[in-house]
Amino acid sequence: MGEIENQTERRVKDYKFGRKNQWRRTLWNQIRARVQVSPAEAVVVYLAGPDNLDRTEAMRRGFKPNNLIAVDRDERIVRTLRHSGQLSIAADFCEVLLAWNPKREVHVVIGDFCSGLENNILCNLGAVASLPSFRNTVFAFNFLRGRDPSSNAFRAAIRDHDPTLGRHRGAFLWRYVEALMQASMADELDPAALLELTARVRHRVNPRTDSYRSGVQTFDSVVWSPWAVGTTQEAFAAAAVFNDALVVAPSLRSKIAATLAHRTMRNNAI
Ligand SMILES: C[S@@+](CC[C@H](N)C(=O)[O-])C[C@H]1O[C@@H](n2cnc3c(N)ncnc32)[C@H](O)[C@@H]1O
Repeated sequence: MGEIENQTERRVKDYKFGRKNQWRRTLWNQIRARVQVSPAEAVVVYLAGPDNLDRTEAMRRGFKPNNLIAVDRDERIVRTLRHSGQLSIAADFCEVLLAWNPKREVHVVIGDFCSGLENNILCNLGAVASLPSFRNTVFAFNFLRGRDPSSNAFRAAIRDHDPTLGRHRGAFLWRYVEALMQASMADELDPAALLELTARVRHRVNPRTDSYRSGVQTFDSVVWSPWAVGTTQEAFAAAAVFNDALVVAPSLRSKIAATLAHRTMRNNAI
């Protein structure tokens, strides 16, 4: 009996693992297809996790180890990565993105969060999406559906504007980012022009959502293409002014600068 239970548990675990692997491969294929520069040149900022599996998928598709910048707030994970020579920052993911040097472009941001879409994540990622470093960026995120009561009211408000939204956390994030863009242009465009701009942006970024189950939990992901390349850059001017006012800890800016300096040093040594 015990052995059968063990076998069953193993199969269930393998199944879950297999599902997530398949999901991760699909997501990376999407990222590879959407990135606007050659993968060899693309700078990727990602959430590492204990197994650091995104790195393998990135390298399989031609992204270079020296351009992969791992972030994790778990210092033990970052210590292990550093020991194996990987560029990594121990800090909150959103704070790293908000503190990013505006003169350094990032081409892929991938945040496989193990949490729900908490209010601070929703608001911070909304702000990040309009920063100058992320105009030419493929964004990909994964969230646990539920366990995010802090954003209940906010999500309800977003759903009021778009009753077609269901419960998909990735769809909520994209819709919020889109609403920010609309708000930043509302004073300059009449409602019809705003709708047209929204349709153009949505067509360009082509947000794609996906979900997978792990036991009783559902994970929701979203990926979208760079959206402010060329003509729509001005759409974010207002939001960018707002972001200029963000207060970022100087120590975090130093951490990021040190990591990028390390990268430059290695690139020069090649
Ligand atoms: C699901 S794991 C990432 C797994 C990775 N994508 C993989 O497939 O190997 C999420 C990791 O992000 C870290 N994390 C979660 N939220 C974070 C945040 N807001 N800032 C920094 N790290 C965070 C956790 O410590 C965890 O190690």
